[in-house]
Amino acid sequence: MTDKTNVVDLITGHRRMRRNRKADWTRRLVQENRLTVDDLIWPIFIVPGSGIIEPITAMPGVNRMSIDKAVEAAREAADLGIPALATFPNIDMILRDETGSHSLAADNLINETTRAIKKAVPGIGIITDVALDPFTSHGHDGILRDGEIVNDETVAQIAKAAVLQAEAGADIIAPSDMMDGRIGAIRQALDASGHQSVGIMSYATKFASAFYGPYREAINTGGLLKGDKKTYYIDPANGTEALRDAALDVEEGADMLMVKPGLPYLDICWRMKQEFGLPVFAYQVSGEYTQIKAAAMNGWIDGERVMLETLLAFKRAGCDGILSYFAIDVARLLSKR
Ligand code: PBG
Repeated sequence: MTDKTNVVDLITGHRRMRRNRKADWTRRLVQENRLTVDDLIWPIFIVPGSGIIEPITAMPGVNRMSIDKAVEAAREAADLGIPALATFPNIDMILRDETGSHSLAADNLINETTRAIKKAVPGIGIITDVALDPFTSHGHDGILRDGEIVNDETVAQIAKAAVLQAEAGADIIAPSDMMDGRIGAIRQALDASGHQSVGIMSYATKFASAFYGPYREAINTGGLLKGDKKTYYIDPANGTEALRDAALDVEEGADMLMVKPGLPYLDICWRMKQEFGLPVFAYQVSGEYTQIKAAAMNGWIDGERVMLETLLAFKRAGCDGILSYFAIDVARLLSKR
């Protein structure tokens, strides 16, 4: 030991992690993951009517839009390079019933939205949900009979709804209801009706989460919902069960998998990517968005940096992309860099 050897070198054996972090250019050079506009799917909320942009109280900065405004939003999203939108309708209360029968109307709000956007902005992908919750008078994702969500009848209905959505021009069907056997049934129905090229993004692991609260205000199901969704969504305590559920969706023909909510379930994102190798997407849900917004509005965190950090975390966890209400803000931000 010479007298030039200092105590830190003795401990680190000359391994110094900070060398690669010492300047902006070294940090850029060694950066492992990057967030780009290609990673983003933008979920939007639709209301009937025209000229309407309506704020959602529990989701500051997110609005419900009538179809004409949604078309404008789609155009901006496409111009910024956002690959796809996910559309969620706020259906007139008068059209909701016990079985969600309006999901089978070819010209319902979700299908008319798809038609309008596809016509005006053909280059952007449209991902539609076939769950029944926007259409039922009880806010559940399935048909409710004698206090039970009946699985097989629900599956038959959403498979029909999926065909109507494909006919309207949807590119990817994304069932979020967690009924057993839905992926296989939807695949069969799509193929039988000539929609072989329409994909399925399975909400493969959807947890019975409290993070969905603000979404239920957005599509007006919060006040309707009695009880909870624990008989069909996955228990937040269960990771292995989530993987088994996703494995069935893969077998049944899912093209892409989704994990929902996002940030509290990064372990599931990672495991799914390792296990199946399929494209994996995380849904940064309404409550995750709202937490960040609320804290930022209070000046308690730097909202923009936290937003970017959470989205990058999804990439590090193996996700191919993220459904996020921040998508449009992020796309605007990235386009300025
Ligand atoms: C239901 C559905 C939910 C969300 C999208 N579709 C959850 C629910 O209400 O139970 C949540 C999305 C979000 O919170 O951002 N099919």
